[in-house]
Amino acid sequence: MKTADKRNVTAIDCVSQDRQWQRLMEIAQFGAIAGDGVNRACLTTLDRRARRKLIGWAMEAGATVSVDEAANLWLRREGTDTQAAPVLTGSHMDSQPRGGRFDGIYGVMAGLEAFTAMAQAGISTTRPIELVAWTNEEGARFAPGCMGSMAWAGVKPISAFFDVRDHTGNSFGDALAEHLLAEAELPRRPLGNKPHAYVEAHIEQGPRLEAQGIEIGVVTGIQGSRWFKVTITGESAHAGTTPIAMRRDAVQDTMHAIAALNTLMHDPDDILRFTVGRLTIEPNSGNSVAGSVIFSIDLRHPDQAVLIERGDGIAGVVAGAMKTCESTVEEIFHALPKAFDPLVIGAVEAAARRQGFSNMRLPSGASHDAQFVQPVAPTGMIFVPSHKGISHNPAEYTSPEQLAAGTRVLTEVLLELAK
Ligand code: GLV
Ligand code: MN
Ligand code: MN
Repeated sequence: MKTADKRNVTAIDCVSQDRQWQRLMEIAQFGAIAGDGVNRACLTTLDRRARRKLIGWAMEAGATVSVDEAANLWLRREGTDTQAAPVLTGSHMDSQPRGGRFDGIYGVMAGLEAFTAMAQAGISTTRPIELVAWTNEEGARFAPGCMGSMAWAGVKPISAFFDVRDHTGNSFGDALAEHLLAEAELPRRPLGNKPHAYVEAHIEQGPRLEAQGIEIGVVTGIQGSRWFKVTITGESAHAGTTPIAMRRDAVQDTMHAIAALNTLMHDPDDILRFTVGRLTIEPNSGNSVAGSVIFSIDLRHPDQAVLIERGDGIAGVVAGAMKTCESTVEEIFHALPKAFDPLVIGAVEAAARRQGFSNMRLPSGASHDAQFVQPVAPTGMIFVPSHKGISHNPAEYTSPEQLAAGTRVLTEVLLELAK
């Protein structure tokens, strides 16, 4: 087994399982919902309060703070070579509407704990290390997700998302402006830069690590995903008086469309993921025939060819399923499958092995901001087990020990990459 730098070992020993857990539980109060869950939508007061808490802790650990025009929050631990490209870590602080206490926020708190441990151990690194909390990873309030990392990576300007609205009609542009105004005293930094490498810690959100009794997942890449917004337009009418033959019922045609899409997406190997998770019905009244339905499609597959072929088939299948209504299909998010870099994969694996944690390589089924950092810099991820694979659910759980193991591996990887 490779021997580690003695100073690294001191910092790894300073990672505190209890401190990390207590801080995670404290942050989980911002948006706490029944059943130990969290509902912390991006760019809300709750999001700001959680960010403020993080900033306070990071500054205690010697970090400096800044924010960019996409409201990505940056915490920087200076290196002895201030001009060197920083090593980057982080994740997101927003949650699903019925989310858990760990998705996203764990990666941010793991970075914070690494900073705290390094400060406690009195360690300096050659390269700066930066911790980022990306804006709107989940895409739950404003679809699609990963807006902050996409804007940072130059995939789209942040203004491309300004007109996206949440379910109450507020625009992303207004929510962002309100947030940046509320945070106006934070120093601003430009979007984009080229880090030396990026490593993101995250809960697995699937069952594989737990099922195999493995402590650390060495993530090899992320499957591709495409999101679509489908609009079915009919005509609202009286439920008691309008003969069925005269109706243009958008709910009925939505059912036909989803049934036809299930046939298009059928995969005997159960690798393809096809989800309709949101339906918005107008006027959404029990005694009115629905005049329109908007529904979401989330399609994922590790094979780019399958992702493209099935996704490109959606509009035709939906149109063919219409009996009385009209349909439009708009693609709102497209992320091709991404393979991570051997530099980061190797560093994660070496750190897990050296610290004696069981580990395995696995791809990510969930999307992450790492998908958009990958084309910019060598990128990788560290997974810790999710109990029963449950995620996007208040019951999401990873034990304090399991979370600390991931943070110890993250700390070593950051120190190795930044030394
Ligand atoms: C992020 O939570 C995703 O959609 O995978
Ligand atoms: Mn996440
Ligand atoms: Mn998520």
